[in-house]
Amino acid sequence: MKTTIGLSALALSLAITSQDIKAAQPSNFPANAAPPTDAAIANWRAKRYGMFIHWGPVSLTEKEIGWSRGNETPIEKYDNLYKEFNPTKFNADEWASIAKKAGMRYIVLTTKHHDGFCLWDTKLTDYNIMNTPFKRDVVKELAEACKKQGIAFGAYYSTCDWFHPDFPLTSPGGKTHREKSDINSYNKYLLGQIEELITKYGPLITIWNDVPQEFKGRGVNTINLVRKLQPDILINNRTGDGGDYDTPEQKIGGFNMDRPWESCMTVSAHNNWAWGGEKDGVKSLEACLRMLVLGNGGDGNILLNVGPTPEGIIAPEQANRLKDVGDWLEKYGESLMDTRGGPYKPTKDFACTRKDSTIYLHILKRGVGDFKLPALPAAIVSAKLLTGGKVRASQTATELSLSISPKNPKEIDVIVKLELDKASMEIAPIDVK
Ligand code: GLC
Repeated sequence: MKTTIGLSALALSLAITSQDIKAAQPSNFPANAAPPTDAAIANWRAKRYGMFIHWGPVSLTEKEIGWSRGNETPIEKYDNLYKEFNPTKFNADEWASIAKKAGMRYIVLTTKHHDGFCLWDTKLTDYNIMNTPFKRDVVKELAEACKKQGIAFGAYYSTCDWFHPDFPLTSPGGKTHREKSDINSYNKYLLGQIEELITKYGPLITIWNDVPQEFKGRGVNTINLVRKLQPDILINNRTGDGGDYDTPEQKIGGFNMDRPWESCMTVSAHNNWAWGGEKDGVKSLEACLRMLVLGNGGDGNILLNVGPTPEGIIAPEQANRLKDVGDWLEKYGESLMDTRGGPYKPTKDFACTRKDSTIYLHILKRGVGDFKLPALPAAIVSAKLLTGGKVRASQTATELSLSISPKNPKEIDVIVKLELDKASMEIAPIDVK
């Protein structure tokens, strides 16, 4: 009998995804919270592309961070992994330089995931990196390395904590209720830890909350604290009461020039967040470029995730793929970095970005010769192909026609740069069929 209950509980818990839990999250900004400054939003948006890092003692198991606690890995075992966590190959400068070479302009690290383990020298719990054999403050080292290399640093901090004895829910998957808990006391802990992160390692580009179980009505306090400690910070929408920007996960958000957004995606071929092992594999260069171009074209940022190994390195396969994207950005980055999306709205194989009086058309199809779009409410001063070859652009009252030669069968993204006779941001969004 016991076994049957155990098994069906396991089946149930495995069927629960983070999406289910997050579905109820509000995404708009709460009325009683301090809003972000326009300058902070502009600064965050201009970065367009960052690195997400999911890492911790769980990386030893090659299973998913937080979610595998009480699922694939028994709780007892999971909670003792930190005693073996000794990532002697960790080198913060190396991580920051991998991000830099990838063209990424910010890094967001899981300082604490749902499993409650803290990657910094926190005074608020012993369950932290200083009590592993490694005994080095990873958050401090990475924050410093980022500063040195001119990359912004942000802290993912899980709102829920399935390890903390005061948190009402526990593993597996945050679905088990504790007999005794104290959400007010846990809330103090959360605010205290976020204060530590900002004051010890800031200024931060963002606090990135996640899975805000039991935090409806409390998230507003997080937002207000964060903003008080650092007025130019952004906080994502998973506080329990919304936040400054939306966070579509494993999909590219829809075109939106009003509300800031960032898609978080995984470089892992199997969509793993934490280290998935040697055989995990990576997405193709084409898949990575499409994310970036379609995301930026929709006016969103892309946060591309790596899961470092338990020894502390970003595995060569992941680092090399990021470097491929970086090499591409080295040549064509002007068409994405510091741009805004639009005015043409993205389609499956097309996106558009803009800055000043320039717009960049990104054609995500190989070997295109003629390409037509609705006319622009502006005159075209010049047209150039960034990716090599010649382009002729002409407009009628209704149509913009591009003739591209030679048809380039190799480029993943054929980029046409159009100089206009007016500021590109003045042009209202245009639907493309
Ligand atoms: C998913 C994963 C979680 C990760 C998050 C990032 O919810 O389950 O581990 O932190 O995505 O958005």
